[in-house]
Amino acid sequence: MTAPLIAVLGSINMDLVTTTERRPAPGETVLGRGFAMVPGGKGANQAIAASRAGGRVMFLGAIGTDVFAPQLRAVLTGSGVDTTGLRTIDGPSGIASIVVDDGGENTIIVVGGANTGMTGLGAADLAAVAAADILLCQLEIPVPTIESAVRHARDNATTVIVNPSPVQRLSDDLWRHVDVAVVNRGEAEHLGGALGPVPHVVVTLGADGARHRGPDGAWTSVAGPAVEVVDTTGAGDTFTGALAVRWSRGPAEALRFACAAGALATTALGASASIPVRADIDSILAAGT
Ligand code: RIB
Repeated sequence: MTAPLIAVLGSINMDLVTTTERRPAPGETVLGRGFAMVPGGKGANQAIAASRAGGRVMFLGAIGTDVFAPQLRAVLTGSGVDTTGLRTIDGPSGIASIVVDDGGENTIIVVGGANTGMTGLGAADLAAVAAADILLCQLEIPVPTIESAVRHARDNATTVIVNPSPVQRLSDDLWRHVDVAVVNRGEAEHLGGALGPVPHVVVTLGADGARHRGPDGAWTSVAGPAVEVVDTTGAGDTFTGALAVRWSRGPAEALRFACAAGALATTALGASASIPVRADIDSILAAGT
């Protein structure tokens, strides 16, 4: 089976990660355990996850002209992602300030930087969307750019997967053009009936795996493998990228594969640094843990 061609339209950030025993309450200062800078951003994480899981991936996004930019580009190319659609915008790259506690839970503040300059798509971007099997989007770049990509995908029979994160309301018209929505529990609650017109809704459930609602309205659940959680940052992105790679094989197989990939992504610190390759996903599935 030929690997699917996936166009990922989205953000790329340098994650500034502080680890701590517990996250501070408002107004409180706590001592941290460590600090690391790890490339991330929901778009880049999903592109890297899809590529490492076996997809052919093009990333449409933007980096800045700061000290982080070369490392951000390198993590994409080093993971086999086509960066022809990666533009450079004068100014800072996107960053995310992340705090991870000893339970592996995180809080994240994103400052968009160059991602906010993704205000339009050129002819080459649109051609990439039209040529792709799947368009994969999140919400860390301007929504009008996502809307035009989604419409173009629909006009060209490209399957549209949207991960509406960080969550915000999108127009009903946009949701009508989406084939698959991937949301976590909080996003599912926030969006509620807005997801009604979407034929496939996938809800990620952390350690409990994921569930899928198809066009017939029936829900099915898939359990993920049990793992020792270090850091959940990027686990949802890894799930989504892996899901896109296997989507053509049907929701049951795609969710099983994506749950395994997402679980593995929680076993190490950092977003892109913890994204597994296909052999590791296959191994944990074969082990049946
Ligand atoms: O989903 C995790 C990602 O959210 C991080 O890598 C961070 O950059 C933010 O975009």
